[in-house]
Amino acid sequence: MRALVIGGTRFVGYLLARRLLAGGHQVTVLNRGTLADPFGPEVEKLRADRTGPELAEVLRGRSFDAVFDFAGYRGEDGRRAAELLEGRVGHYLAVSTGQVYLVREGAPRPSREADYAGPVLPRPESLADLREWEYGVGKRAYEDALARAHAARGFPATVVRVPMVNGERDYYRRLERYLHRLGGGGPVILPDGGGQRVRHVYGGEVARFLAHLAGKAETFGEAYNLAQEETPTLLQLVARLRELLGSASPLVAVPSAQLRDHGLDPVAISPFSGAWMSFLDPTRARVELGFRHELLDVYLGRIVASWLAHPPEAAPPGLERRALERELARGAAQLR
Ligand SMILES: NC(=O)c1ccc[n+]([C@@H]2O[C@H](COP(=O)([O-])OP(=O)(O)OC[C@H]3O[C@@H](n4cnc5c(N)ncnc54)[C@H](OP(=O)(O)O)[C@@H]3O)[C@@H](O)[C@H]2O)c1
Repeated sequence: MRALVIGGTRFVGYLLARRLLAGGHQVTVLNRGTLADPFGPEVEKLRADRTGPELAEVLRGRSFDAVFDFAGYRGEDGRRAAELLEGRVGHYLAVSTGQVYLVREGAPRPSREADYAGPVLPRPESLADLREWEYGVGKRAYEDALARAHAARGFPATVVRVPMVNGERDYYRRLERYLHRLGGGGPVILPDGGGQRVRHVYGGEVARFLAHLAGKAETFGEAYNLAQEETPTLLQLVARLRELLGSASPLVAVPSAQLRDHGLDPVAISPFSGAWMSFLDPTRARVELGFRHELLDVYLGRIVASWLAHPPEAAPPGLERRALERELARGAAQLR
């Protein structure tokens, strides 16, 4: 297979490119070159900002069996990709997000693919919410442009929607924030007690699923959710990380309002405590495509082992006011 990865140098795109290479495929990556090039000469590199005129230049005369797009964020990105690659791509696989449901008015949790259609929430007032809303609305426009190209001209696009992605290369360093606190003897604050259920996905499994989908014509024009099967509470998830690490750190509950009163952002301390975290139903991919996500415990163990073997040089963000966290934790209810 001649594969083009739009992106390919950060997290899941990188894992996918490696997986494709391992599978004996011919891999080209297209990006702006802002990150260090992790590949040798075995991977062809195209330099372009996909939002700029150079995209047409680098794609001129090229054709691919599969294009995996990790950098589509706006309607225009989907529209141009379909226009430039029409008739020259066997399968176009677009990476989208569970956020497309979070901005949908009244979308249930868990969200199924059938919950996508319909009106979106009004533009929020707060800046933080606005950023998240724009991301979700932009991704919807991107998906919709691809769906239109499929409906009008048979453009062979498939959309894969993923929730928060965990993995060894997570650039948001979400799990790492818990690991860092657990590894240092704690305490770990779970805002409001961590009773909410979480359902994420493992980066390696997203890469495996995308590679598995490539070439499946029955998925053209369709969208699939991808997520782990388990739905632990955040408290259960962090308690499991603690076990895997052998940590004795106390897990404590502090109300979000109290954290904010002290100038602490609950989501910076505990990235899985925010409202903008989708909860997807992955049944369709399982039933129709036979995809099974590996066990949560297996992938968590892998992430913990990697973190221990390769301790990051710099602490993750959100630890700037650790002394205050410790102080607030002293008077807080211990959960475990
Ligand atoms: N991480 C999560 O929790 C999560 C959750 C849901 C959905 N997603 C989706 O996952 C995708 C990103 O995944 P990833 O970071 O793992 O993919 P990746 O392919 O490993 O990295 C992103 C790539 O996109 C390239 N890129 C960004 N903007 C570009 C532009 N304007 N033109 C050309 N290339 C561009 C970056 O390189 P340069 O900077 O050098 O251009 C980089 O290679 C996004 O579509 C995001 O919406 C992520």
